[in-house]
Amino acid sequence: MSVVEFTVNGRKCRVDNRIPRYTTLNAYLRYHLSLPGTKAMCHQGVCGACIVMVFGRRPTTGTYETFSVNSCLVLAVSCHGWEITTIEGVGNRLEGYSEVQKRMAANSATQCGYCTPGFVMQLHSLLHKNLTMAELENSFGSNTCRCTGFRPILDTIKSFGSDAPKNLIDDIEDLKICKKNCERKCSVNSEWSVVSEEAANQIIKIDYGHDKYYKVWTVDDIFKVIKKAGDIYRFVDGNTAKGVLPELFDYPPILIDISEVSALKQYSIDQNLILGANISIEDCLDIFKNESKTDEFAYLDDFVKHLDVVAHISVRKIGSLAGNFIIKHLKREYQSDIFLLFECVGAVVTIRSGSGELTLTLPEFLDHNMNGCLIINFKLPPLGPTHVVRSYKISPRKQNALAIVNAAFNFNINRDTNRIEEAKIVYGNISPNFIHAADTERYLQGRYMFCNDTLQTAIHILDHELNPQIMPPQPSPEVRKKLAIGLFYKFILSISPADAYPYKYASGATEIFRPLSSGKQLYTTDPSMYPVTEPLQKLEALIQSSGEANYVNDLPIRMNDVFAAFVLSTVHGGAVDKINYNILEEPGVVAIFTVKDIPGVNSFGFPGIPLQTEEEEILAYDKIKFCGQPVAILVAETEYLAAKMAEKVQVTYKNVPKTPAVITIDEAKKKKWRYKAGTNPDEKIVPKGKGENVTKVIKGKYETGAQYHYYMEPQTTIVIPVDKGLEVHSATQWIDLTQICVARCLGINESDVVVKVRRLGGGFGGKLSRSVQVAAACAIVARNLNRTCRFILPFETNITMIGKRPPIQCTYEVGVNDIGKIQYLNAKLIEDYGCSQNENILSYAAGSFPNCYNTDYFNLETASVVTDLPSNTFARGPGTFEGIAAIENIMEHIAFELGLDATDVRLANMKTDDNEIPEMIKTLKKEADYDKRCAEIIQFNADNCWKKKAIKISVMLFPVIYYGNYSVLVSIYRDGTVTITTGGIEMGQGVNTKAAQVCAYKLGISVSLITLLPNFSFTCTNNVFSGSSIVSECVMFGVQEACDILLDRLHPVQVELGKPTWNELIKAATDKQIDLVAEYMMNDKEPRLKAYSAFGVAICETTLDVLTGRFQIDRVDILEDAGVSTNPIVDIGQVEGAFIQGLSYHTLEEFIYNSIGKLLNNRALGYDVFLAKDIPVDFRVRLRFNSKNKNGVLGSKTVGEMGICTTYGIAYALRACIHESRKESGHKPEWFTLGFPTNIEAILKALDVPLSNFVLQK
Ligand SMILES: Cc1cc2nc3c(=O)[nH]c(=O)nc-3n(C[C@H](O)[C@H](O)[C@H](O)COP(=O)(O)OP(=O)(O)OC[C@H]3O[C@@H](n4cnc5c(N)ncnc54)[C@H](O)[C@@H]3O)c2cc1C
Ligand code: FES
Ligand code: FES
Repeated sequence: MSVVEFTVNGRKCRVDNRIPRYTTLNAYLRYHLSLPGTKAMCHQGVCGACIVMVFGRRPTTGTYETFSVNSCLVLAVSCHGWEITTIEGVGNRLEGYSEVQKRMAANSATQCGYCTPGFVMQLHSLLHKNLTMAELENSFGSNTCRCTGFRPILDTIKSFGSDAPKNLIDDIEDLKICKKNCERKCSVNSEWSVVSEEAANQIIKIDYGHDKYYKVWTVDDIFKVIKKAGDIYRFVDGNTAKGVLPELFDYPPILIDISEVSALKQYSIDQNLILGANISIEDCLDIFKNESKTDEFAYLDDFVKHLDVVAHISVRKIGSLAGNFIIKHLKREYQSDIFLLFECVGAVVTIRSGSGELTLTLPEFLDHNMNGCLIINFKLPPLGPTHVVRSYKISPRKQNALAIVNAAFNFNINRDTNRIEEAKIVYGNISPNFIHAADTERYLQGRYMFCNDTLQTAIHILDHELNPQIMPPQPSPEVRKKLAIGLFYKFILSISPADAYPYKYASGATEIFRPLSSGKQLYTTDPSMYPVTEPLQKLEALIQSSGEANYVNDLPIRMNDVFAAFVLSTVHGGAVDKINYNILEEPGVVAIFTVKDIPGVNSFGFPGIPLQTEEEEILAYDKIKFCGQPVAILVAETEYLAAKMAEKVQVTYKNVPKTPAVITIDEAKKKKWRYKAGTNPDEKIVPKGKGENVTKVIKGKYETGAQYHYYMEPQTTIVIPVDKGLEVHSATQWIDLTQICVARCLGINESDVVVKVRRLGGGFGGKLSRSVQVAAACAIVARNLNRTCRFILPFETNITMIGKRPPIQCTYEVGVNDIGKIQYLNAKLIEDYGCSQNENILSYAAGSFPNCYNTDYFNLETASVVTDLPSNTFARGPGTFEGIAAIENIMEHIAFELGLDATDVRLANMKTDDNEIPEMIKTLKKEADYDKRCAEIIQFNADNCWKKKAIKISVMLFPVIYYGNYSVLVSIYRDGTVTITTGGIEMGQGVNTKAAQVCAYKLGISVSLITLLPNFSFTCTNNVFSGSSIVSECVMFGVQEACDILLDRLHPVQVELGKPTWNELIKAATDKQIDLVAEYMMNDKEPRLKAYSAFGVAICETTLDVLTGRFQIDRVDILEDAGVSTNPIVDIGQVEGAFIQGLSYHTLEEFIYNSIGKLLNNRALGYDVFLAKDIPVDFRVRLRFNSKNKNGVLGSKTVGEMGICTTYGIAYALRACIHESRKESGHKPEWFTLGFPTNIEAILKALDVPLSNFVLQK
């Protein structure tokens, strides 16, 4: 057989050698079947945008089952026999939507919608299991959403729980799940198969010429193929290892698919538990669940918990044990959880080669040459009841992350004597060759366990023998060591009898327990204004839930389309010397373009337009500015080839500086040319005077890092040559700049460039100007080849070359009186702009630094520096976020030094005009039961040594200003329906829905009559970018005005007809040839739009595990002033989403560079962002009642960026927890250094618990 067969949404598919072997299921669905509903972002199995549902045979059980897979990892040739269902197959506009899709939409669980199909499919794949709410909530480590903050998604997911309370599902009329013929998909033990019986079990060989693919069914078949293949083969089971380490798991000429070799998938028990090598991790988890019921394998109970945090369900479902072991084999430092667990119980591995079978211990396996070898099985020994086995995994986030340190302990303790007969202590991620803490193990043998002396000596030895290597981007050796010892102590506490240590220490024995999450949203509406103020479902919600909402790369592919990718510089300065064009000989490679192929200006900036002060090169040539800057474009026939071949292009460089790259503000400050002071009046605060009563002077420095926007839709552009010009489909927030720069770089007229944007899969500022580089490069290809070009940045390219939120540094000296009132403040705030001064946000930072305070005595200077990194850019709350965070750090510092409550210090410094904060603090404190909780926390901290709690209030005054211009075009059609197109780009913030609400309100019609069209450069000509939060309001204003123009024109007809219905009125107007198209451009000279302040207060409670640095955000209460919210559920979504994005930034997100500024954590498993189980357990948001904005549009206030500006509170809550612990560790009370982000590394360093504190008895 030379073809594989499967079905997609019931349609039979045959894949043979006409489809490239490397084609993933994702590429096959999107580019060969034209099913664009399944999205892709990371292509590494991490983000979940690509999840589809499979009904297929599980070789371990022999049954048919429904499960999810990441279509970006699975090869199309590996889908043999599967019935695949994509988002299009679970519900659509023709056949009706599934219940999951409907509830996602109804619960406001979509914003940009790019992640939504992945969530829907993951949920669909679980429905038949009848899981509880907690089980369901635990099953979404596979999916990332950067917009919503997860709460509404979790509410939707939980509503399908077998134990879901009625109120979670009340609102949905139709509770029947999956109405279409789903019996087969959800049944287990089905006899059904898409592959004919005769065809089953024959070796499938697909011959691609030089390359071959074999699908084999038996172990003997494997060796037959290996014999022919020699060394140039690799096995494929789940193909998930490629997601973790693509460089190690490329496709050699022979691929042998062993995913259905049943001998490798079975398990049995003689006395050992014998696990077939290729049992999937998820099936292994089920086996462990069963076998842990027996005494000999009771230890597997702990393994079940550990496996639950290995990868996530859809990777575990197809990722095999052997595949995991081979990663460890090829990369010793890999922190394999499976290896760790198996080694700690003394498992062995059986290997077969041409010369027979061999049993090896796991360390022996690591040294064994695996060429020509197949792992056959793993044998886990039974362990008697005297064994205590525990394992731990400390990772940056709760799910879907690799360990910072993982540890497994297996102590055989004589129950009569309490002496240790044998100890096994295994750690991961210490150094490549470290497996066992062998000295400590030896020492412990024969010792009485629950005695302080034993513990102290053991810790001393452990401290000595643990010497973690520097392995960037892994956390520092110091922290990995602290963690390893902390975990050892935790283990000892967990197995010690309660009377072995004081009660206070008990909190060290356990990890923080996360209960089921919950959320509350409170708001008021004004029915007299409906549909304005009505909590309407977003216009796009259903089509986003069903994958029918189109994004740029969903445009159907055509025969002649090409794909392009950037070739990135590997140096941080100097010039390109030579580019080796030999790559053009590779099949499928079409062209390479360099700066010489740019007919016009090599720039994607346009000095003079807002935010732009200098040119920025599309392709660097003689002045490389940072490592990772694009120097060429590679064009190929497929997306995969373009990305892969771009990495292989050999470029040599000249004049490369020998000095390291300048990547910090401190370094950059030293060079005059890099430093630019903010000289404009709005870039500083000048004091009006100085207070007399200085009783304390405080000095400090506050720094934040960069933040990747992490939009789920990558930077994408498609350029189509049309007539004499170009049609540009771009995921951009800035149509005008795109149009200008495309025309300029090609030397053509702007009028020959038509830009169209339907929606973005998230932007957050990252697609404001940075998208233009991609658009320009794409246009260069399309123009040079006269072919449609698709340019989609791979994750590594995107995160490497695109600028981020600028890091800041704020140094300050503040003089205060006894109650913390500022008498003088000298502060300097420096922004790191990366390699260009474009997008100056000093005025934003200076404008927001006052927050809600009296600035009479404030003296603020600002400056910017340029560094050897990509040019930084707008990111949610640009400047504002940083300005508020900087002054709030000063407030916290003052409070600490004076021993006062930080809220009291804030109140002492409040300004009196235009300030709702004092009243809002009072309201929220009461609502959140703040005082009572404070008292409880004091008691908790007194009772617990190894867990600490804190609660913090944070406040925000966001100065809203209107700038720029937004066009609106409203057209009424003969049948009374209406279309609107605007200059405001929909990227999840709900601008389209709000525009429709205002239009319906003004025209007095139903929202259902209104359709929002994409944004076009010819209707929003010369408009400003869609950034900041004001877009929705500006568009709403424009819609009002356009509607007024139309109403004026309709008025005479209305008078003539008396009281016509809407349809009668419009029909008469069209008969009279009245112009029913109105255009209005709002601009910032508009006197009716006045600047105003938006307010927010948040209370954040957290628990910290002192031994591991892990924390949980227990509860967050937010009171946000949205004025009269135009759409409360949309606004709450913005608040929640921004808040989670900020929490993630403050506690998790960071960049690790080497000395030349090469980004080291540029993979999806390297740059972690919050996932569903990282968000506050209890998340309550209230939009302030009775708050009408006199200055805004229809009484509303903007909310898009505000949510992020109160998230600094988490850092001070954690600081307070650390402070509590440090007191007990004997540190003197001081304002200690706390790194940004406040992640495990920063926390453990700041905690600085002396090892001598890890005791059983003092
Ligand atoms: C998003 C994500 C998160 C992850 N998180 C974790 C984590 O938290 N902890 C952790 O430990 N791991 C993690 N992993 C790694 C994961 O466990 C492995 O990718 C998976 O187990 C590999 O199995 P596979 O069947 O997909 O192997 P494949 O990718 O199909 O193959 C990998 C290699 O194994 C070889 N191979 C496969 N079977 C055999 C055999 N029987 N004999 C000899 N060689 C064989 C192949 O030749 C190939 O070289 C994660 C992976 C992803 C994608
Ligand atoms: S694209 Fe597949 S998981 Fe991200
Ligand atoms: S809605 Fe989830 S990423 Fe945008």
